[in-house]
Amino acid sequence: MTYAVTGGTGALGRHVLAALPGARSVSRATGTDLLRGTGLNALRADVVVHCATSFHHEVAMANAVLSTRPAHLVYISIVGCNEVSLPYYRQKLAAERLIIDSGTPHTILRATQFHSLLRSMFDRLSKPPLMLVPGFRFQPVDEAEVAAELAALAQASPAGRAPDLGGPEISEATTFARTYLAATGKHRRIVPLKLPGATYRAYRAGGNLSPAHAAGTRTFADYLTG
Ligand SMILES: NC(=O)c1ccc[n+]([C@@H]2O[C@H](COP(=O)([O-])OP(=O)(O)OC[C@H]3O[C@@H](n4cnc5c(N)ncnc54)[C@H](OP(=O)(O)O)[C@@H]3O)[C@@H](O)[C@H]2O)c1
Repeated sequence: MTYAVTGGTGALGRHVLAALPGARSVSRATGTDLLRGTGLNALRADVVVHCATSFHHEVAMANAVLSTRPAHLVYISIVGCNEVSLPYYRQKLAAERLIIDSGTPHTILRATQFHSLLRSMFDRLSKPPLMLVPGFRFQPVDEAEVAAELAALAQASPAGRAPDLGGPEISEATTFARTYLAATGKHRRIVPLKLPGATYRAYRAGGNLSPAHAAGTRTFADYLTG
């Protein structure tokens, strides 16, 4: 079997490449631009694992990948993309629907937020002395574990929607922020931020969580200190 991994230079894609020896990395860095439609020949493989992403053009990217008619397309999506009405989440959901409706044999895995996302969020939020942190819960998962699951799914038959993959702990963002501060040796006053609106309500209701699929094993603290 041959494998191509879009977004092979990204936070997730580089782990997928490591988990699928011999897989080809496909991104602008290797000469393929999924939005311009250039270098698409690099996608010729038995299985395409689609990890490339574009904030505003997720559907166009999925279209470009589908145009190469893969025998099996494995797509990474986000837990709660059907519940939280962020523009990016709506794009993820629309890309899922496009893939399903295309008739292309596919596997879609939804994962919760990656450890790297929480860390970069806290890097940003801890710049001022007062650390304003989202007033809702997260269930961060290690992207290497998500990549291992994607690699396993890529080596199996197309499965449609795979069981979601969430991290091992569900806690308020303030708890993860304290873990971050302890690991980085920073001292900040943490203030939970509550916002009006449907998006916040969906997060607050746990739309980004998958308690029934807490299959990840590496905690946020493991990630920060490992
Ligand atoms: N971060 C999270 O918490 C999280 C949670 C669940 C699911 N996901 C999903 O996981 C996937 C990967 O996320 P990530 O955090 O690994 O993203 P990332 O680090 O931002 O990587 C994005 C990748 O897309 C490639 N790319 C961007 N524009 C491109 C273009 N026009 N043509 C070809 N390649 C392009 C980039 O490579 P070049 O710059 O070399 O082109 C890069 O390899 C996304 O679909 C995301 O929705 C993320």
